[in-house]
Amino acid sequence: MSPAREVEQAGLRSSRGVEIAAAAAEFRHRTGLSPEVAACAPGRVNLIGEHTDYTEGLVLPCAIDHKTIVVARKRSDRRVIAHALDLNERAEFVLDDLRPQASWIDYLQGVGFALGEQGVDLPGIELTVSSEVPQGAGLSSSAALGVAVCAAWLACWGEGRGTPRRWAEIAHRGESHFVGVGCGILDQFASALSEPGHALRIDCRSREVQPVAFAGETPALLIAHSGVTRALAADGAYHERVQECTEAWAAIQRANVFGSGVRGLRDLVVDDLPALEGLLAPALNRRVRHIVTENHRVVQFCEAMRAQDWASLGSVMAQGQVSLRDDYEVSVPELDALCEIADGLPGVIGSRLTGAGFGGCTVHLVEPGNRETVAPALQAAFQRRFEHPLRLIWTGIGGGAVCETL
Ligand code: GLA
Repeated sequence: MSPAREVEQAGLRSSRGVEIAAAAAEFRHRTGLSPEVAACAPGRVNLIGEHTDYTEGLVLPCAIDHKTIVVARKRSDRRVIAHALDLNERAEFVLDDLRPQASWIDYLQGVGFALGEQGVDLPGIELTVSSEVPQGAGLSSSAALGVAVCAAWLACWGEGRGTPRRWAEIAHRGESHFVGVGCGILDQFASALSEPGHALRIDCRSREVQPVAFAGETPALLIAHSGVTRALAADGAYHERVQECTEAWAAIQRANVFGSGVRGLRDLVVDDLPALEGLLAPALNRRVRHIVTENHRVVQFCEAMRAQDWASLGSVMAQGQVSLRDDYEVSVPELDALCEIADGLPGVIGSRLTGAGFGGCTVHLVEPGNRETVAPALQAAFQRRFEHPLRLIWTGIGGGAVCETL
């Protein structure tokens, strides 16, 4: 275990102690029994590398302070009974009869499904979930839930807790193959494997992760929730983008213009783009241009972090936003406006939409001395143009998921 993770693990008892105690108290009140394990997994914000994970590209998320906590206890039968504190909802299913219910319980069923595929003879469990990750905001509330549930369930099973990487892989498998969101690994890997104070560069082909820190002072991180909500599972537009990438790659393979070293969109570089003109339909050409330039931006962003080059961070983010707006076409007027307004404010280093888009949030890097002025100015200017309430969230860069026996 890395020193950073040890610190975070030790911190679970203290800093998360209050939330765990509250969830455990509710659990005892409801069941008359004490929970045996607690797991905690954060939401994430993606700094750069958007819509590149499902074509095996590069991404650079970091964990946010907002977390999902699960306390659980093994049952002697095969039922799973869950209570979501924030929603004040109870839901259940039987492990031998998994079927999507179009509800948050599907993420738990997904974990059961994926562990079942691996031959794990899971027990039923009773659990309480408490989450501060906003839903429908593009901050990976579902990945935080899946990762925390997986960690807690494996710990209840009793044959070892598994590793954070395994939690991520299982939660991803459940979300993509049971819930049916054809997403990449970005969210679950960020939630499970992030290190405190570091962004996480993930190579979505090799699945190698590399923590990357800001040299010098770390910029403050502001997340602006536009109030336009979206749900990935119901979001045909996300699937359409995944599909377009598959189609574009099939057309490129048919044309056979690149050598065998190009095994997917991920292997194309900016210099290859002119060869694609005329080969792909205009919309597909734009999608591929986004993927290729965005992978390059992840590399540039990491270099700028290491060089403490805030000007380059800002310009890479701005180019990313333009690419998401014009080439990938996943932005909405509210997100464009947030970026445009924020980038005009003194002390804002850079802005872009974060997550899948189609609503949700923008992320802004802010010079730490300007926190007090940026938030109210952004709020006021946004509210002059749009009616729905803007929610501003300052976050630190947190660590990944942890699990402990109570
Ligand atoms: C959602 C998906 C991720 C990723 C992002 C876009 O968050 O769950 O896998 O594709 O959108 O970068």
